[in-house]
Amino acid sequence: MLKYTVRFKPQNFELEAEQGTSLLKAAAEAGLRLETDCGGMGRCGKCKVVVHRGATPLTPREREYLTPFEIRNKVRLACQAFIRAATVASLPLTPIGEDRILEEGIDRAVTFQPAITKYYLDLLPADFKREASIGKIITDSLLQHGIKKPLVDFYCLKTLPLLLHRNTTGVTALVINREVLGFEVGETTGCHYGLAVDIGTTTVVGYLFDLTGGRLLGVDSALNRQSVHGSDVVSRIEYALTAPEGLSRLQEEAYDTINRIIDKLCYLHKISTHDIYSLLLVGNTAMNHLFWGISPRFLSRYPYNPLTVSPLCVAVEDTGLKMNRLGRVYYLPLVSAFMGSDTVGVVLSTGLHKSRIPRLAIDIGTNGEIVLTDGKNMVACSCAAGPAFEGAHIQCGMRGSSGAIDRVYLAGDEIRYHVIDEIPPKGICGSGLVDAVAMMLAAGLITPNGKLQGKEEIANPVFARRLTREKYNQIVLTGHYASDKGKKIVITLKDISELQLAKGAMRAGIKILMDQLGLADQDIREVYLAGGFGNYVRPESAVAIGLLPVFKKAKITPVGNAAGSGAKMTLLSIKALREAIKIAEQIKYVELANSQEFHQEFAKGVLFPK
Ligand code: FES
Repeated sequence: MLKYTVRFKPQNFELEAEQGTSLLKAAAEAGLRLETDCGGMGRCGKCKVVVHRGATPLTPREREYLTPFEIRNKVRLACQAFIRAATVASLPLTPIGEDRILEEGIDRAVTFQPAITKYYLDLLPADFKREASIGKIITDSLLQHGIKKPLVDFYCLKTLPLLLHRNTTGVTALVINREVLGFEVGETTGCHYGLAVDIGTTTVVGYLFDLTGGRLLGVDSALNRQSVHGSDVVSRIEYALTAPEGLSRLQEEAYDTINRIIDKLCYLHKISTHDIYSLLLVGNTAMNHLFWGISPRFLSRYPYNPLTVSPLCVAVEDTGLKMNRLGRVYYLPLVSAFMGSDTVGVVLSTGLHKSRIPRLAIDIGTNGEIVLTDGKNMVACSCAAGPAFEGAHIQCGMRGSSGAIDRVYLAGDEIRYHVIDEIPPKGICGSGLVDAVAMMLAAGLITPNGKLQGKEEIANPVFARRLTREKYNQIVLTGHYASDKGKKIVITLKDISELQLAKGAMRAGIKILMDQLGLADQDIREVYLAGGFGNYVRPESAVAIGLLPVFKKAKITPVGNAAGSGAKMTLLSIKALREAIKIAEQIKYVELANSQEFHQEFAKGVLFPK
């Protein structure tokens, strides 16, 4: 196969790529990131680049997404432009900002007792003068540390003569319960670190802990490198099942994302990756399958069965992670195909399972996971909210990163907005969109069923001027006036419909769970809003658009990355790990698709409150 040089400006990254490779794939290989809501299917129009030379001609599909101005200026969709000669491209047109990745969550105290413990076995020359096997000498020494009937397998035992030859005074044993994972030469108990990881579809957050005392050393986050194959789990599953070596590539990308976090945290805290012995993951069910390299075949078709919902604990040497090979990688238990261990983490960290009064936890992302307790039982469901809350499938939507409008409000007749990092706006993220629609409802720009009013029906002429028509009827938020700098940001009728579908699913989910437990809106005493969107959305806007019911007696508490908090707790405490396993068993999962009420509630839920 012929290979050509591909150069990306302005970074001037150069690489060799095979003829026929898409520019999207070449950019990903060069470590450059583009918005890819549809995973390269040519269906979102977000992966725009300027191609100076070397790519295949413009396709009819691209014409659907590009304006005549863009076409004249050589803009292309990177996923639809393929290399056919030495190529030069500029990307992205508007650089994607650093994502505002939510790292903080609530922290509940736990008893510090990590799953893996290190014991230094201080062996004296006299110990070896006894008439006993080396295995017996070691197990006796472990007994002195309180480990009864330790299990030392043959392969561990086999390493001892060599280790004791290098240091006759002792070895350090790594132990889980009674099982000895291995030995290290000399005293290494002071070097013991662990990483808690929340592996999200979009972002991955890692928390590095010193496991000798439970101190948090640092946090780092990165975009999930699988994102190049689509922003939602459906695109990833499709890629895993249809692309040659798709599954192994996705698994490598998951390892690669985590390894970069490990490298960075170890570098910053001056420790060796070799000193990380435990890694504890939470994530949704699809991420779980892709991380372990399990084919998602059964997840993708009715009745959508995961391979297993049990917690998994695997030796590091069976993974591609940069850690000590004697260590262990844990994945918390799942609840169902549509509810992963991230929700278990949310319940654990909010303490919902211990609540004696009705409480609700909502983790809103591409999917919305809802867990409700009446103080005795826990029921949960997952709603295909769609990616609108993460800014995907929205005309000017983007993730909550630098340049995203994250807040919109009215000041008299004026529409005001806030942009992350206070730079000219590049797009609008989920919390900005909810605010914008709440503002449009308040200003009488849209009707309760989501239709844009005609100019003549809008009482205030200042607002009426914001209504324009291009491909769709739309409201111009920015860029309409000379004082606005940056891109024109609009909210189209289609965006409003996307938001209605997303909120309709969430409202139906909440209602069905409340019916299951016989609760009414006024019974709920606290609502936890978890996840990036949940943390940043303004509760009053969420209520104004009807995403949340009016919970008269409830306190609304944003809990940040509560799934990550759950991962941290279980890394630090075996007791919390056992608690998480029980939570997964306690949650009664309600399949909305099987509920007769769903369609009715969904139809009501898409409407905006009057
Ligand atoms: S159109 Fe190219 S990634 Fe969606």
